[in-house]
Parts: sequence; structure tokens; C-alpha cells
Amino acid sequence: MKVLVTGGCGFIGSHLVRRLISQRVNVVNLDKLTYAGNPANVADVARSPRYRFVKGDICDERAVSRAAKNVDGIINLAAETHVDRSILSPGAFVRTDMLGTYVLLEEARRRKVKFFLQVSTDEVYGSVDRGAAREDSPVRPTNPYSASKLGADRLAYSYFATYGLPVVVTRGSNTYGPNQYPEKLIPLTIIRAMLGQPIPVYGDGKNVRDWLHAEDHARAIWTAARKGRPGETYNISGRCPMENIRLVRTILEELDAPASLIQFVRDREGHDRRYAIDDEKIRDELGWRQTEPHAANGVTKTVQWYVARRDWWEPLVRKNEAFNKYFEAQYGSRWKRGTP
Ligand code: NAD
Ligand code: DAU
Repeated sequence: MKVLVTGGCGFIGSHLVRRLISQRVNVVNLDKLTYAGNPANVADVARSPRYRFVKGDICDERAVSRAAKNVDGIINLAAETHVDRSILSPGAFVRTDMLGTYVLLEEARRRKVKFFLQVSTDEVYGSVDRGAAREDSPVRPTNPYSASKLGADRLAYSYFATYGLPVVVTRGSNTYGPNQYPEKLIPLTIIRAMLGQPIPVYGDGKNVRDWLHAEDHARAIWTAARKGRPGETYNISGRCPMENIRLVRTILEELDAPASLIQFVRDREGHDRRYAIDDEKIRDELGWRQTEPHAANGVTKTVQWYVARRDWWEPLVRKNEAFNKYFEAQYGSRWKRGTP
């Protein structure tokens, strides 16, 4: 079995690549190595005879065609993934998340692959005020990231409905764990707390996210790729809903850092209040179960990972011009009393 994984140097992609290699699957990892792609994330498998890396853009037909040679299936994780960046500059999101998915789907159609797994997100449902969204619930994306992801999600489905391509879509919830780039809430909070820097919490901090461990997310994606019914969508929930402020406080306690580091800052535009998805379908039909059902345990282990792996995150944030520039553009005007 040979699988093309796109975005395998990113956060969830790296967990998936490692899982596949350990299961004796041959992997071609096509990754553009954007700011979020980091070869260190897959350094431990890079020398495996089952692993091949192709540096390239999923929007580039030739790179895709080269990488997809003789593959049995394609798993598309490559994407621009940070909501705040999509609000600052949506263009890259429309390009990679939508056009890139189209290029991959065309390649898959030409090659008649045995499966095409499109990694989508629970953000496509938008804010869920009560209960939990099922796969057939209305979709109401509210930011350029989630709208582009929904475009890709439904374009992938259309290749099933129109051309009979065996497409399966997964919609996972907020994911955490080792290797997550430090722009997202959990790694940002851990690292800034370790450095004694203020932690920006948007709005009143009461937005709810449902936390899923990256290992569980990767395993669910692989389960859906192998066993999912073509044309179907599967939610993947962490079943660990938490208000942001509670999560941030938990991390600070874990690090013995003072709560006074918390700073409530101007809210994200169009900030979805609550994400909640029903994942009975992937459990009942495909038998997937999470192995880290308690976000508190998972977060503790994740904090320990970042504490131990300063060598991993320091080059990404400290004296890193691109990161500092992004941080200033994102947060500069957010602090209520000026940049601390
Ligand atoms: P990430 O930002 O950590 O990594 C994205 C990877 O894609 C990087 O390695 C990057 O270099 C690569 N990439 C970006 N543009 C590319 C392009 N044009 N061509 C080739 N490679 C490109 O992302 P992540 O958090 O691991 O998310 C992976 C997937 O899972 C995404 O599709 C995302 O929408 C989805 N998802 C993420 C979460 C989450 O909480 N992180 C939850 C649900 C779904
Ligand atoms: O729900 C799945 C999605 O989860 C994925 O599809 C996205 O790729 C992934 O980035 C994530 O999106 P979020 O916007 O939910 O994640 P983020 O870590 O950016 O924010 C989590 C919550 O924390 C959200 O309510 C906004 C808030 N937040 C975030 C940051 C970066 C803060 O309060 N302060 C911050 O500095």
C-alpha cells in the first residue's frame, strides 16, 4: 500500500505519517513547507525506506502528478489552517484550501485512486448554540478559513457524486498535542507562560472548543480512509468541551505560572461561540474510539512535551522575524492598554 499524504510536515500530518510508517504503509509526503511545515516533525521517520518527501505545492499540477505516481490513495491535510491569519489575508486560504484540493481531486480522478480522504473541520458547522452538529446538520462557516475548508469539503464530495471517485470526508474538532505551531491557543499559552509573557484571551474567554488529541485525530483519519463509505462524511470529536478561559487557567496551573498573565483582549471578528459535534457515526460504523478521552490529562502531557522540547519551539518564536511580524500584526492593536 502506498499513500500520498499532503501536509505531512504539519501538526496533524506528522502524527499521521508516523502512524502509517509504523503500520508498514509506504508514504509520499507532499509538503510546501510553509511557515507551519517543519521537517523536524517527521525527522524520526525521514530515513525509513517507506518514506519519501516531495517538496511542492498542492496547487502545482506537475508536483502533484510527480508525487502521486503509483499511489493507492490520497489523504489531503495540506491547508492554511489558522483562522486569525485568514482574517488578515484570506487569499492564501482560498488558493491552497480550495484550488489545491481541486488539483488533487483531478489527479485522483486521472489515476483512479482507491480512496481520497479529505480532511475537513468541525468549523464548517459554524457556532452550535445547543446540542451537537451531526454530519447532516446545516453548515454555516463564518470566517475565510472555514468557508474555504467547506468549499474543499463539498468539492471533494462532488467528485464522488459526479465521477464516482471514492471520496470520504472527515470533520475533526480542535486538535492539540506535540508539534503544533505556536500560533494556536494551546501552544501559544504554554510558551508565553514559560517565558512569563502576557497571554491574550479573546473576548470574555467563554467561547467553547472541543479538544481532540492529535494521535486520536490521526488514527480517526486513517480509519476513515480505510473503512469509510465513499461519499460519506464523518465527524471526529474529542468529547472534551472546554471554555477557553478554563483551558488557559489549567495550563497556567500546570506550569505554576500566575493567573495575572491572562489578558482579555479585543475579540476575534465573527468569533464562533461554541463548537460541538456528534461523533456517533464514526464510532458506530467504523469502530473508532479515542485513547485520550480526558483533555486535562492530554493537556498535562502536552505541557510536558513543550517544556521538554524547547529546542523544537524556540527557533520558531524567539528572534524569529516572520513570527514576530505576524504576532505584531495580529495582536499589536488588540491589547487594551497597548502592547505589554
Ligand atoms: P498545520 O498548519 O500544522 O500544517 C499544514 C501543513 O500543510 C504544513 O506542513 C504546510 O507546510 C502544508 N501546506 C500548506 N500549504 C500547502 C500547499 N499549498 N501545498 C503543500 N503543502 C502545504 O495544519 P494542521 O493543524 O495539522 O491541520 C491539518 C489539516 O487538518 C488541515 O486540513 C486542517 O484544516 C485540518 N484540521 C485541523 C484541526 C486543528 O485543530 N489543527 C482541526 C480540524 C481539522
Ligand atoms: O475546530 C477546528 C479548528 O480548530 C481547525 O479547523 C483549525 O485549523 C484550528 O486552527 C482550530 O481553530 P480555532 O480558531 O478554534 O483555534 P485557535 O487555537 O486559533 O483558537 C482556539 C480558541 O481560542 C478560539 O476560541 C479563539 C481563542 N484564542 C485563540 C488565540 C490564538 C484566544 O482566546 N487567544 C488567542 O491568542
